[in-house]
This record gives sequence, C-alpha cells and structure tokens, in this order.
Amino acid sequence: MYYTTRSQTTMLGRLLSFALLMFTPVTGENITLEYQRYWAVTPSSDIKVPVQLGVMSRCPDALLCENVFDRVLEKVSERVDLSLIYIAKINASEPYFGVQCLHGPQECAGNVQQLCVAEYEPAIKWWQFIQCQNFQGRTMIGDPGTAMKCAKASGFDWESSDVGHCAGKDGSGRSIEGINLLKQSIAMAEHLHVEKSCTVLINGRKVCIHDGTWKQCEDGHTVNDFVRQINDEYERLNKKL
Ligand SMILES: *[C@@H]1O[C@H](CO)[C@@H](O)[C@H](O)[C@H]1NC(C)=O
Ligand SMILES: *[C@@H]1O[C@H](CO)[C@@H](O)[C@H](O)[C@H]1NC(C)=O
Repeated sequence: MYYTTRSQTTMLGRLLSFALLMFTPVTGENITLEYQRYWAVTPSSDIKVPVQLGVMSRCPDALLCENVFDRVLEKVSERVDLSLIYIAKINASEPYFGVQCLHGPQECAGNVQQLCVAEYEPAIKWWQFIQCQNFQGRTMIGDPGTAMKCAKASGFDWESSDVGHCAGKDGSGRSIEGINLLKQSIAMAEHLHVEKSCTVLINGRKVCIHDGTWKQCEDGHTVNDFVRQINDEYERLNKKL
C-alpha cells in the first residue's frame, strides 16, 4: 500500500541516502548535497507552475504521493512551485489544536511541524524534512523527537530557529502561530474543494487523486505523466505573446 514497485532502484537509493543521513553525524551544509543536485535554484523570471498536494501528514496515500513527487522534482524542480495543503476539520472542542485530524492529534502536530518548516526554511530543506519524516515511518510523523532529528538532517536547528518558535520549541506543534497556519491551510483546502488525501492540483486544477488506488487521473499518474503535465502547463504559462 505504501509504495509501488515500479522504481525500486530509485527508492532504494533514496532510502539508503536517508539511512546515511540519519546515522551520520551532522556536518552542516553538506548534508543537503544529495538534494541540491536536482533542486536547482535558477534565477529566472519565468512563471513557475503551482503544484499543490492535498494531504494529511500521517496518511499512507500522502506518503505515496510525496514519494512520487520526489521523483517528479528530480526532473522539473526548477519549473514548479510545490506546496502542501492539509485536510482536517476545525473543531473547537478538540483539545490542543482546536482541529480534528483523521489520524489523531499527532497528525495535527505533524501538519503544524511541516507548515512551520515550509514557512521559515528554504524549499529544499522543507522537502528534505518531509522526506526524512516519511522515511522514519508513518507512525513517527508528528513525533517531536523525529521532527528535531529531521531538522538536523535537513540542515537547520529546531529549537534555535524560527521553526521552533512557530511550532513550539518542544516540537509539539501546539503553538499559536503554527495552529493558525494549520487553520489557514484547512481553509484553503476547503476553498479548493480538496477532500481526499492525496489530491494533486496543477495550477489550481485537480488532476489526480490517490485514495487507496489512483482515481480520476485523466492524464495519467506515473512520474512521467506528472512531468509532462507540468511541462505543458509551464509552456502555457510562459508563452511569449
Ligand atoms: C562541503 O564539501 C566540500 C567538498 O567536499 C568541502 O570543500 C567543504 O568544505 C564542505 N563544507 C562543509 C560546510 O562541510
Ligand atoms: C468535535 O470534537 C469532539 C471532541 O473530540 C467530539 O466529541 C465531537 O464529536 C467533534 N465534533 C464533530 C462535529 O466532529
């Protein structure tokens, strides 16, 4: 259910590199080299294609989508502006978050952690942080210790950075700023009518859903299908008149 077998070698390589990340003493900037190779930071006035994944941080379908998009980014990272939007329900009677997350309060914590990293760290570190959390296993997502370990592996310090201020220095996610980010994200998902984790949106258009299996993917659901759709959208957005 977690991963397709289509790209075992890429998967294995990625898993190995995360295993190395997790068990190697942290050596500063060089830890992100693996990612810098393909997350190109190209100065360009071109319009990037907004790509959103509607997710819940501890949902198996979200992990699957984030894995597929890790491979999509290998090919078109310089053409997309990727973000995650979180599916949950506002519920004032829920303790700690005032939000009900389908996979429990720890999922709300995971959502807040990811949102705060997105808010205060460069995209490359944010994406690496999420891949690191996922690599720890679904049930470790939202765990404060995992968040701090993954922060270190992604090249920033949880407690001393703005991320710690945003999502709680203790890593709990129970902080005003982080919870507000979560509520804004939930509102955006509702506004876009995104209800299923995982939903893929390219330039605001729902193009595919993975909910147990792939659904409503008119233009395909392989890495290459998403790459092609992003390239088409990029050409459209940047067509010189
Ligand atoms: C990163 O690696 C390069 C080449 O291996 C080295 O020259 C540089 O000093 C390293 N930087 C850090 C911060 O460790
Ligand atoms: C809101 O949360 C409370 C406490 O967990 C729960 O009892 C209640 O059913 C929830 N309300 C809705 C509409 O889900």
